Amino acid sequence: MSKQSQLNQLNTKMSACSLCALRPGCTRVVPGAGDTNAKIMFIGEAPGKKEDETGLPFVGAAGKFLDEMLGAIKLKREDIYIANVCKCRPPSNRDPSPEEVKLCWPWLLQQIQIIEPKLIVTLGRHSMERFLPGQKISEMHGHAMRHEIEGLGLQVFYTLYHPAAALYNGGMRETLLKDFKRIPKILEKIKEEK
Ligand code: URA
Repeated sequence: MSKQSQLNQLNTKMSACSLCALRPGCTRVVPGAGDTNAKIMFIGEAPGKKEDETGLPFVGAAGKFLDEMLGAIKLKREDIYIANVCKCRPPSNRDPSPEEVKLCWPWLLQQIQIIEPKLIVTLGRHSMERFLPGQKISEMHGHAMRHEIEGLGLQVFYTLYHPAAALYNGGMRETLLKDFKRIPKILEKIKEEK
């Protein structure tokens, strides 16, 4: 079965999920979007208002900034896959709870298993925490590392600030852009090491 068919099946199951308390309070499940054969998978936190309305990830202000940064490294949305650690919008855009992230993990795990990205780019501390627990994003941003994850094996991660946090913070915005522009070199290095 093609990766697209596998993801379609998974998305259908995801849409019917009611494992945590977020589903009754949101409009729709936001599974993820992009190239199912992508080498890079970006993982954010959870859908916001616009994402909840459209069913697509990163379509608000943070998404526009993300597109701008992708453009800076000559990539488009269609070249990558993007998903979130939580697939449903938390009320009033509050942080997802550890329990909600835990209950949503099997969906994200299966997405990664199907897509098999060479590089996972975590956006923000909630995404980083899922894969690299107990770290500080102020220390970890801009660092690429291999890390063993149950169900995935050894996987390369690159941790970045969240575009929404950096959007209106001049210093963080510059740092995020600088970190972002290192992505092509990191991907190149992964290819060389294979
Ligand atoms: N912020 C996220 O982390 N994910 C989205 O999909 C939108 C905003």
